[in-house]
Amino acid sequence: MTDKPRHLIDIASLDDADISQLIERACALASGAQPASLGTTAVNLFLEPSTRTRVSFELAAGRTGMRVVNIAPRDSSIAKGEALADTAGTLAAMGVDALVLRHPESGVPVTLADDLDGAVRVINAGDGTRAHPSQALLDAATLRSQGIETRGLKMAVVGDLRHSRVAASGLALWPRLGVGDLRLAAPPGLMPDEPPAGARVCASLEEAIEGVDVVMMLRVQLERMASGERPDGAAYFREWGLQPEHLEAAAKGCRVMHPGPFNRGVEIDSRVADGPASLIREQVRMGVFTRMAIFEWT
Ligand code: CP
Repeated sequence: MTDKPRHLIDIASLDDADISQLIERACALASGAQPASLGTTAVNLFLEPSTRTRVSFELAAGRTGMRVVNIAPRDSSIAKGEALADTAGTLAAMGVDALVLRHPESGVPVTLADDLDGAVRVINAGDGTRAHPSQALLDAATLRSQGIETRGLKMAVVGDLRHSRVAASGLALWPRLGVGDLRLAAPPGLMPDEPPAGARVCASLEEAIEGVDVVMMLRVQLERMASGERPDGAAYFREWGLQPEHLEAAAKGCRVMHPGPFNRGVEIDSRVADGPASLIREQVRMGVFTRMAIFEWT
């Protein structure tokens, strides 16, 4: 780690050189480059469920010579009402260098990083619907590792864009990597009120994936919807689920991504998720290397 603390909060707070460095380093590590031996300590504090992000940060810490401590919220003093900033300050006092934080409220990592004033590096592992920067970076590293050039790429992002922090970070990243034709499609009520400038809003899945090189499907985030807002899974799948026939209209060799966890038979057909176009497992694999690069960079 550098002497100057670097937090990973969102894509907007990274400059272009940081983004290039992180993606290139993730790919180099995936190709067998020797990882740094950091000798520092990270705490994983996940206040929302996670499989991929939590485990891959833990594996990444181990592979970069770090000690990692997992805190289960219900077994920590957060359950007794301790403020998050006090928990983080307590960890810093024990010599913890990095706090990997997932939080249900948007913006918490931003204020926490400000409050801590560098006492511990904050790595945002997903806050509310706002940002999931390590996921966007690993998605970009996945494309790079597959030899897919983002400059001029045609990409569709389809599904629950309204609640997806993955989409929010991806939409901040893809234009900066030169994606030339970025299309968004979501069912009524699941498109953000203000879709990002530079992306084309499409009326249907079919319109969005016509001729694209990459389609990124998103999970329906039922946990962020009131019970009356939740779509019926079968009806959703008929209109918005990615099925093999849809890919016939995409560009030849179109690849399919999904940040996971994915719902088979809701936003994606198993024949697509498990099929030759799918990069879903490769995204998971690249997640470990990307998070190693993040630990090296902070
Ligand atoms: N993509 C992602 O954040 O997955 P987890 O919730 O399993 O970490």
